[in-house]
Amino acid sequence: MEKENDLSNYRKVYQKSELGQNDIPQDPMTLFQRWFYEVEKSGSVDEVNAMTLTTIGLDGFPKNRVVLLKRFNENGFVFFTNYNSEKGKAIAVNPHVCLSFFWPAMERQVIIKGTAHKLAENLSDGYFESRPRGSQLGALVSDQSEPLVSREYLEDKLKKLEAEFQGKEIPRPNYWGGFTVEPHSVEFWQGRPNRLHDRLLFKLVEDYNWELIRLNP
Ligand SMILES: Cc1cc2nc3c(=O)[nH]c(=O)nc-3n(C[C@H](O)[C@H](O)[C@H](O)COP(=O)(O)O)c2cc1C
Repeated sequence: MEKENDLSNYRKVYQKSELGQNDIPQDPMTLFQRWFYEVEKSGSVDEVNAMTLTTIGLDGFPKNRVVLLKRFNENGFVFFTNYNSEKGKAIAVNPHVCLSFFWPAMERQVIIKGTAHKLAENLSDGYFESRPRGSQLGALVSDQSEPLVSREYLEDKLKKLEAEFQGKEIPRPNYWGGFTVEPHSVEFWQGRPNRLHDRLLFKLVEDYNWELIRLNP
């Protein structure tokens, strides 16, 4: 690399919003829902449902990657993937994961620690059926996270499968489906001036009962 990359002057003043004490619901999912749709309505975030998923890998290292949130309710956050992928194998051994959202346009971050559970088969079937055919075939074609000999091999495999399934329904492969991340803690970060940001941490005490802690920024 040819030049030194000094980013110490990159600075921003956060002042778009705040997390006032009167404004906080009893449970984090209600606050998450409110934030999610506020960000969506602002129209300034491209993929509001894109989130970072961190797993602890079989090699002992954490790994982050982006996946798409496809459903959320009081039970948790759902994403879909290949169960044989690197993340799938990691979750099979250690289901403790972290999800995070960064919505820069609203100066917001949400961090969720939780446990991932495979989604019920009928719900994975339902979502798979709702996907465009191209995405369905993509799930069949890709041995996600395994080494690939060449791009041509992949495209060739897709053509063969297109021919094989022409005019037929494409079944969901059993190695592809959803995970629900059941939250243990949810932390909300709202950027504020002078680096005195608002941070609210919800910790699960027992079923649907949350302790609320305000954290130093
Ligand atoms: C915007 C975006 C959305 C993505 N959505 C998904 C997704 O919903 N499911 C998925 O398996 N991979 C998704 N990916 C790809 C993953 O980031 C990752 O490359 C892939 O799942 C393999 O990860 P792994 O080898 O760590 O298992 C997405 C990537 C980006 C950038």
